[in-house]
Amino acid sequence: MKRTIIITGGAGFIGSHVVRLMVNKYPDYKIINLDKLTYAGNLANLKDIEDKPNYRFVKMDICDFEGVLKLMQEEKVDGIIHLAAESHVDRSIKDPFTFAQTNVMGTLSLLQAAKAAWNGDWEGKRFYHISTDEVYGALEMTHPEGIEPPFTTKASSGEHHLAYGEKFFTEDLKYQPHSPYSAAKASSDHFVRAFHDTFGLPTIVTNCSNNYGPYQFPEKLIPLFINNIRHRKPLPVYGKGENVRDWLYVEDHARAIDLIFHKGKIAETYNIGGFNEWKNIDIIKVLINTVDRLLGRPEGSDMDLITYVTDRAGHDLRYAIDSSKLQRELGWEPSLQFEEGIEKTVRWYLDNQDWMDNVTSGDYLKYYEDMYSGR
Ligand code: NAD
Ligand code: DAU
Repeated sequence: MKRTIIITGGAGFIGSHVVRLMVNKYPDYKIINLDKLTYAGNLANLKDIEDKPNYRFVKMDICDFEGVLKLMQEEKVDGIIHLAAESHVDRSIKDPFTFAQTNVMGTLSLLQAAKAAWNGDWEGKRFYHISTDEVYGALEMTHPEGIEPPFTTKASSGEHHLAYGEKFFTEDLKYQPHSPYSAAKASSDHFVRAFHDTFGLPTIVTNCSNNYGPYQFPEKLIPLFINNIRHRKPLPVYGKGENVRDWLYVEDHARAIDLIFHKGKIAETYNIGGFNEWKNIDIIKVLINTVDRLLGRPEGSDMDLITYVTDRAGHDLRYAIDSSKLQRELGWEPSLQFEEGIEKTVRWYLDNQDWMDNVTSGDYLKYYEDMYSGR
């Protein structure tokens, strides 16, 4: 079946992997990347597919209701995969308004446009909203030394990592967002579900854990620290570095999105995660050892770059996703073991210094310096 799909935020980190996967996998589909190109959007992320006949880029703000509606009507769009958002927690603490505008009003505007364009003819239509595990709030860390998690799911190529508590985020948990970022994402999730319940719009929501991999903007922990280790700059570890995140390789998230877009049930929520909990400080040590080894430095010689700084305000202690529903119902599981994924990721950033220099120069650098000054 031919389809025409808008992917919002396709020039960002996860969006660019979803666009690449769909453009390459579905030559009969038309994939429209709708992106405003904020500081986080970068068309260099899509150089390898930009000339493909089934790909179109449209520079547009998701808040532009008229523009999105016109595009949907002209292109006869039958699917939306919505990733566009302000995504960085630290920025949301400095500037919550932008997060409410993009994540809440932008999503609402997109929902209104889809509702108007499809006008009650829901057959074959799909509005798929990409959300985050942060909407569930924070879990307790009842086992600081780590325990075997209760799930049988394992990345096919290896073992899962330890868990730091008995509780996990499941789809039925009540929302308890703590940061302005997660509050705005939670609000957008509620609007998406409300448009299904009120108007019948065919929606799906997924909540994923922390992604890592190529093309992530270097304000986020993993690319920021790889670049700093390379240049022997201090590594600002928030608090004691004890916070736990559940890491998933970005291409595994993109595969899940493809599967759920095609096979997921309307009105359902699916959690996506890799059963791969790590304390920040442990991951930072893995990054230091890997960068050192790949650059031919004595392994661990850059440990002295670790610099403990003031904690992030409202810093969530532990995230851990239970993605067993997705495995049970649609057969998805992560394909990469973390050790493999992190090695690939570090190599990619070291091999793509031009990409890194490009995004860390100019205006961004100014913002970046303002943001981290005083730490
Ligand atoms: P990102 O910041 O790398 O990219 C966001 C993209 O959205 C950029 O290309 C940006 O230009 C675009 N954008 C921002 N505002 C826009 C607007 N008003 N109109 C059109 N485009 C706009 O984000 P990411 O890390 O790739 O995250 C993508 C989505 O996945 C977000 O919705 C985020 O909440 C969600 N998510 C991210 C993670 C993660 O670990 N990064 C995990 C779970 C869920
Ligand atoms: O859980 C999914 C979320 O993961 C997504 O919804 C967000 O869009 C994404 O940004 C990410 O949020 P986090 O806040 O977990 O990611 P970040 O890379 O900013 O931080 C990861 C952890 O590392 C977190 O505990 C804070 C810590 N940290 C981060 C930075 C940037 C530091 O200790 N030092 C740093 O300089």
